[in-house]
Amino acid sequence: MKYSYLTLKHLDSILEIEEESNPFPWTAINFRDCIDRGYYSLALEDENELVGFAIMAISSEESHLLNVGVKKEKRGRGFGEQILNKMFLAAEVMGSKKIILEVRVSNNVAYSLYEKLGFEEISIRRNYYRLPKGREDAFVMSKTLKKGLKSKFFFNA
Ligand SMILES: CC(C)(COP(=O)(O)OP(=O)(O)OC[C@H]1O[C@@H](n2cnc3c(N)ncnc32)[C@H](O)[C@@H]1OP(=O)(O)O)[C@@H](O)C(=O)NCCC(=O)NCCS
Repeated sequence: MKYSYLTLKHLDSILEIEEESNPFPWTAINFRDCIDRGYYSLALEDENELVGFAIMAISSEESHLLNVGVKKEKRGRGFGEQILNKMFLAAEVMGSKKIILEVRVSNNVAYSLYEKLGFEEISIRRNYYRLPKGREDAFVMSKTLKKGLKSKFFFNA
């Protein structure tokens, strides 16, 4: 298993994961946009096969988890949790105080994962997600990060 930054070479594999995961999947343009904007984006590969990915906009105040996905046949083996823990560590090192995310109200698996990782539901965004027909609400969830990692990492305090 190997982590790397997400690049355009991963695009076809990411789209496959996205299309098997979401009723209204992100497009190549959405992923290219994230890469162009320099969002913190990780790919987890097993012998050059993409197993999972995650994308987060990191900021010193509040980071925003934008997407995470694991290939269907590789789910339930701890990869989602492992990728997200890597993302959170990066946000902590960058001095982020908390992470927020949105999750479809029907997405019980992702909701359980986020709860396990210490997220709490803080609000609902009505009609946030598109569906092939209509729209779906999102829970907004938040997790407070540990303080002090940034100064240890960068300033040896
Ligand atoms: C959500 C997703 C990334 C989880 O990845 P995964 O590798 O299968 O998850 P893990 O094996 O790391 O599981 C970690 C935790 O998630 C929860 N979880 C995972 N699969 C679950 C399932 N089928 N039912 C309920 N909870 C589940 C559990 O809390 C689990 O902890 P446990 O193993 O101690 O019970 C994956 O299901 C996925 O890609 N889904 C489609 C994309 C998606 O929904 N992304 C989130 C958008 S907000």
